[in-house]
Formats: sequence, C-alpha cells, structure tokens
Amino acid sequence: LPRKPLRRYLQTSPPTSRIPSFAFAFDIDGVLVRSSDPLPRAHETLSYLQRNHIPFILLTNGGGKTEAERIEELSHKLGVELDTSMFVQSHTPFALMDEYKDKTVLVVGGDGDKCRHVAESYGYKNVVTPGDILVAHPEIWPFAQQFLPYYKPITRPLPSSISATHPTSSLKIDAIFVYNDPRDWGLDATIILDLLLSSHGILGTTSLRNNDDSLRKRGFQQDNQPTLFYSNPDLWWAAKYHLPRLGQGGFREALEGLWRAVTDGAELKKTVIGKPHQLTYEFAERRLREHRQHLFGGEEGELTRVFMVGDNPESDIRGANEYKSPWNSRWTSCLVRTGVYAGGVPRWTPEVTVEGVEEAVKWAIKDVG
Ligand code: G3P
Ligand code: MG
Repeated sequence: LPRKPLRRYLQTSPPTSRIPSFAFAFDIDGVLVRSSDPLPRAHETLSYLQRNHIPFILLTNGGGKTEAERIEELSHKLGVELDTSMFVQSHTPFALMDEYKDKTVLVVGGDGDKCRHVAESYGYKNVVTPGDILVAHPEIWPFAQQFLPYYKPITRPLPSSISATHPTSSLKIDAIFVYNDPRDWGLDATIILDLLLSSHGILGTTSLRNNDDSLRKRGFQQDNQPTLFYSNPDLWWAAKYHLPRLGQGGFREALEGLWRAVTDGAELKKTVIGKPHQLTYEFAERRLREHRQHLFGGEEGELTRVFMVGDNPESDIRGANEYKSPWNSRWTSCLVRTGVYAGGVPRWTPEVTVEGVEEAVKWAIKDVG
C-alpha cells in the first residue's frame, strides 16, 4: 500500500464537501497490537482510513511513556504515520490537573523513571518516584535491596519540604498518581500504604498508634492524607501471552486488600480515570474533534457517529455504551476477538462482535451506508 507521509496526509486537506460524519476510536492492546506485535490487517485497515480521509484516534488504557515516544513506536510497529493529535493514553488527562503541578507528587508505575518524565512533560514540577524513596531509605522495603543497582541510576535526591507539623525536613507527598502498571508491587504498595496511613502525607510518620484499638472503634478517616489517582481500572489486558494478564486494576485490588486488612475494613478513597469512565471518553472525543478539524483545514463538519473498536468489554464496550457525549454524537461499541474477549457472552453487550479490526471497520462503513 502506498504510504502517504502524515505531514502530506495532514496538510493535503481533502475537499471539505467530503468530511465524513463518522469516525473511529481504536483501542490499542488486543485490537492493533499484542505487546510489540502488530495484529493481522491493522496496518492495512489504518492505511485504508487514512487514504480515504476517514478520521480516527487511538484510545488506550496503556501508557508509561510520553505520547510522543509511544506514538513514534506505534507508527513504526504499524507502518502508518500517526501523530499525538490522534492519541489518548490512560494518563493523558492528568495533563489537565493544574492544581497539582506545583505540589509534590508521587508517580508510580512504568519502566525505570519514564513516568516521571511523562509527568514533567505535563508540567508537574516536583515528581518523586518509589525508586527515589527506596534509594534514600533502603530499609523502607527490606526485600528490595537486590534492586538498588537498578534504581540508583534512575533516581533523584528527595525534595525536602519543611512542614508546619514536622519541623525536621522530611518528604511530604500531596498526591499519589499511578500512571502505569507498577513493576514492583511490593515496594510500590508499601510506600503508598505508608503515605495513606501517614500524618499529612509526611513520609515516615503514622496517624496510627500501634496496637491502638481506637481505630477500630472510630473507624479510620482519610482526612489529611495524600489523594490517590489511578489512570486505568483494567483488571486484565491482552499482552503477548495467550491468556489475559493482570493490569493496573490488579495492583489496585491488591493494595485495597492490604488497606482493608490494616484499617479493619475501611473503604479506600481514590479517583480512577481511563476507559470506561466518562471523563476519558469526553477527553477522547474532544481530541478526536480537534484532530478531525485539523485534518480538514479547520472545517468542522458534523460528527454524529463514532465507532469504538475494542477487545475488553469492561473498558471499551461498557465505556462506549454508557458514554454521554456533550456533542450528542452516538458511540457504537464494536467488540473484537483478538484480545481479552475470547468468546461467550460478554458482560457488556457490544453493538457488534467481529473477528478483528478490519472486520469492525468494514461493518461500520456498511452501517453508515
Ligand atoms: O496497560 C494496558 C492495558 O491496560 C490495556 O490497554 O490499549 O487495551 O486499552 P488497551
Ligand atoms: Mg485492549
């Protein structure tokens, strides 16, 4: 297939009379790729859409790298010119949270300290990683000593913040963000738990008096601890292994098991974004509309249908089915069999179930007539 460089693709706006009133949102893992391997017909399908100026975005619960880095990798893997204007990762909406950018935040997950760089690319100024804390306090997690050589080159000294309640300089964390799947659940869970049980987010303090039964009587109140954000709820995802693998939702469930044990059953307050949540779909539609307008030289054109093609009923199908578009577009859920879903009755009912991404696009184009 002739590969049209994106620059020309984006610059050669097609006649505005041909602005399609429909577009696509493609999930990535299990629809276009399985880890590093492109899925069958993904290249041909995306190339076809680009040749025919049918807009699409990539909407993933994945992440762990900057949008520019990941989209460069995907362009190479899929042999299609892609651009960050058509791309939403699980943590991309965190770029909008200006209220935390001058605060001190713990960013968890991903390879090395890549997620620190992602947060800094969004404008966060004081980003700490669990590796930074381990290198500064190796005794905080006794079982991670063997990993110190891995962490040392990718860590930074802890920012010391003098706090009114604790005059000695110590680390105060204002918010915890899980950007991507943690690589060391033990270390990350230990540090998050320490902070959630701390006094005012000060590392090394505790609002629990050991063996103090008053907690049981009054119930543990999260009132001055750091706020906790997750970028995606996925319990399972489709990697290279033939069975689904535990995702960020698996880590969250494990941490909440610890929390319930430690606090005698208290509910853990947190905010979870990512598919299937309204916030992420709204963010995605806004980006799709901006990309589409750019594609057609600033012309808007009416967008009435968006076909969400995904492999996970919990995130892709439920999200599209429940999404309420502020622009009143209709989102149609298309389930493929190349990822998490492998047959049977899915918990969330798609409008169509097909083999793979090419069949989904063919069905959609037939559906719009
Ligand atoms: O971490 C990736 C996984 O949660 C699912 O990604 O692309 O299938 O939404 P995706
Ligand atoms: Mg998927």
